[in-house]
Amino acid sequence: MNEKKQKSGFSSRIGFVLAAAGSAVGLGNLWRFPYLAAKYGGGSFLLIYLILTITFGFALMITEIAIGRKTGKSALYAFSDLDRKSGFIGVLASAVPIIILPYYCVIGGWVVKYAWAFVTGSGSAAAADEYFGGFISQTGEPILWLGIFILATMVVILLGVNKGIENISKVLMPLLVILSVVIAVFVVTRPGAGAGIAYYLKPDLSKISANAFLAALGQLFYSMSLAMGIMITYGSYLKKDANIEHSVRNIEIFDTGIAFLAGLMIVPAVFVFSGGNEASLKAGPTLMFITLPKVFDGMAGGHIIGAVFFVLVLFAALTSAISLMETVVSIFVDKTNKSRRFITICVTIYTIVMAIPSSLGFGVLSGISIKGMSILDMFDFVSNSILMPVVALLTCLFVGFVVKPKTVIDEVESSSHSYKSKKVYEILIKYVSPILIILILISSILNAFGINTL
Ligand code: PHE
Repeated sequence: MNEKKQKSGFSSRIGFVLAAAGSAVGLGNLWRFPYLAAKYGGGSFLLIYLILTITFGFALMITEIAIGRKTGKSALYAFSDLDRKSGFIGVLASAVPIIILPYYCVIGGWVVKYAWAFVTGSGSAAAADEYFGGFISQTGEPILWLGIFILATMVVILLGVNKGIENISKVLMPLLVILSVVIAVFVVTRPGAGAGIAYYLKPDLSKISANAFLAALGQLFYSMSLAMGIMITYGSYLKKDANIEHSVRNIEIFDTGIAFLAGLMIVPAVFVFSGGNEASLKAGPTLMFITLPKVFDGMAGGHIIGAVFFVLVLFAALTSAISLMETVVSIFVDKTNKSRRFITICVTIYTIVMAIPSSLGFGVLSGISIKGMSILDMFDFVSNSILMPVVALLTCLFVGFVVKPKTVIDEVESSSHSYKSKKVYEILIKYVSPILIILILISSILNAFGINTL
């Protein structure tokens, strides 16, 4: 058999679960989840998030993995394989990781820089006021760091699905759990942490609103790496006898568990540091790159914890970037039939070339902006706020009304006794999910134009 056509895959179910969890656990869990939870009612937000995870999130993830495994194709051809007229969904789904990969690596580069600063003992410098702004607005240095991040990702992809992705996930993911627990324990045992923990966990029913619900839904989507072809690609590498339902449950426990722990590390730490000022929790990227370094700098033992924290973030970002690059590589291998090696090198060059303008958007190219969005924010807006909901909506309609839920259910049941909640699945995919996704789409577009929807 032609070597390049041989499909390699995950050697075990646990390897698959760890790799998919590696994709799911990323910057979204580590900085976005904690501040959303703090903002939208603590314990009550956690409860909404949990309910959505086991219903909506579960149904969508099952769907993508089953489509991937059934067809054995990347996102580009998985849809057309099941129904020729629906190939355009595959094209749209493939566009998402192609857009996200470069700018994700820009942020990955920032994380490498901070991990390096803390590990080499320059944590105090990294905590200084102008450090972050001064760093990202430079021309050469951020490009150097993103280059390192991209090359590390490339090496894993070149090693292949089993030797590269599966093996690195088996090492990094357990380490990630250990590091998360260590930091969370350290933070919650600091003097004064109690008030922050209460703020994070105590249900505040007055903050429950339609907005909180939509925020949880949007977060869930992104956090589980849905609607970007990733789970289809990983599903295509899954063994035919691996139980999909169990796998998805494990991936969700991982993803939600780390998000929860991230809240326990960040919310009490920032809360104590800022004297209970909620606003400091809401700052987007600056929370991770400006506020947290200051928090670590001000804590006894904080420099060591800071180093551990940024190494943790680095692992999380790396395994997510790996899943993005693998998805893009698999799309072009399917499309061109060229070797994986050749495609990986081409994709790496593309990623570096496209990452540079996103990086420079904070410096020499900062003049280019629409509605206050930098170049990176614009890519993020198009992929996350527009394309992803559209792809998710089309996927639900495709499964619900074109190939019918039975296609997915049969695939799930081919490796387990029976899919217990198949009636619920059918209702979720046909009606509930499409309606929810339309709501996210409308609200995120209106929000981007400064109109608060609800
Ligand atoms: N799921 C990741 C997170 O929670 C985000 C991600 C986006 C991963 C795109 C891969 C690709 O941060």
